[in-house]
Amino acid sequence: MLRGTRIVGETIAPSNGGTMHSRILAAVAAIATAALVLTGCSAAGSGSDPNNPNQLEAFTWWAAGSEKAGLDALVGVFSEQYPGIEFINASVAGGAGSNAKAALASRLEADNPPDTFQAHAGAELTDYIEAGQLQDLSSFYKDAGLTDVFPESLIDRLTVDGKIYSVPSNIHRANVVWVNTAVLQAAGIDPTVAPANLDAWIADLQKLRDSGVESPLALGTDWTQLQLFENCLIADLGASAYSGLWDGTTGWDIRGVQTAVAHYGQLLDFVNPDYGGLEWDAANQRVIDGTAGYNVMGDWAEAAFEQAGLTYGQEYTTFPTPGTDGVFDFLADSFTLPVGAPHEQAAKDWLTTISSAEGQKAFNLAKGSIPSRTDTVASDYPAYQQTAIASFAEDTVVSSLAHGAAASAGWSGAISTAVAKFGVDRKAEALTRELLRAYADFQIG
Ligand code: GAL
Repeated sequence: MLRGTRIVGETIAPSNGGTMHSRILAAVAAIATAALVLTGCSAAGSGSDPNNPNQLEAFTWWAAGSEKAGLDALVGVFSEQYPGIEFINASVAGGAGSNAKAALASRLEADNPPDTFQAHAGAELTDYIEAGQLQDLSSFYKDAGLTDVFPESLIDRLTVDGKIYSVPSNIHRANVVWVNTAVLQAAGIDPTVAPANLDAWIADLQKLRDSGVESPLALGTDWTQLQLFENCLIADLGASAYSGLWDGTTGWDIRGVQTAVAHYGQLLDFVNPDYGGLEWDAANQRVIDGTAGYNVMGDWAEAAFEQAGLTYGQEYTTFPTPGTDGVFDFLADSFTLPVGAPHEQAAKDWLTTISSAEGQKAFNLAKGSIPSRTDTVASDYPAYQQTAIASFAEDTVVSSLAHGAAASAGWSGAISTAVAKFGVDRKAEALTRELLRAYADFQIG
């Protein structure tokens, strides 16, 4: 007889304490992992037992708030489809995965992998593949008939040398401005009309400030700065030249990059001064609360607006980051089967749930993203997601830098460090020099 699914998991508390706090959490996670490796156990307090086949330990950074709600929805479907398997939640909060990735790296190094872990489609996944840490899922795709279920552009980002290494759970868009309509209206700005470009948007930010909103653009910790900078690059270079940055066909010394740096600096003039210490959800909350007018954030923000009980098109709305209309800044979460996963069959069951129409629908309705399956019915989704579904179908798709799609972890880390430094010293020339150096170090070198 099958027993009911038990859901266990020790989650490290979410961090609103900023970069330093995030680093401390990462360090604590790494030390905890190392200690457990020494004692022969697996993840912190997880209870994963390699001799019990009816367990699945899944590693994500969806540990709190609206992101956890998405994971819970997925686990709900998994529990229905595989009621005999105990789900062990090994999530690690904070930093859009930077804390989780640090903890994961030490587990992988110690040959102590979870049964599955979250990884972004694109360059980030390639890092794991090249390190020999992932199993080839080509025959899983074939047996489950998955090859035609996902769009080609996505399959390409999951494939290396003809082999497919993970199963996508969703598609997120990272060039979205989240708008508090009442805040804009009070300043005489029509929230239904998107500014035509970054200059027009900067003029609106000034109007908001003049109306008494001291910090009209909400911003948070390091990766949210990188995401805002990537939006400026897309706006000032256009989709094709932006994509060329990642394959060497666009030089980092072109004028558009300097314009993007200048625009990024101008935007920083309108952000909350405490941005270095805020996680994305705390920054986004300022738009929900009406202390800021705008936030540039991936569309996991949709789930936070939903959870706060706000109605799309009334209390809040969205538009593509000014200058990026017609572009879909893409990222996708996907799940892997690591080499040496203790519960391989249960991991394949999890991947089956993720790839199923039912699993994708439950997850994406809760997460704010759109399904990665091609058989999505747009009318099944709320208003915001319908805009994302239409954009993904019609617009030019580019890869997100801040979310692992465009550049390797090392390259994007180097850019992120330079962008964070610019936030402090505002030395535009130093930033453009660092961008060139990062290209030389990680793309050519
Ligand atoms: C992204 C991830 C999203 C969301 C976000 C914020 O990198 O793909 O699913 O979790 O980080 O943490």
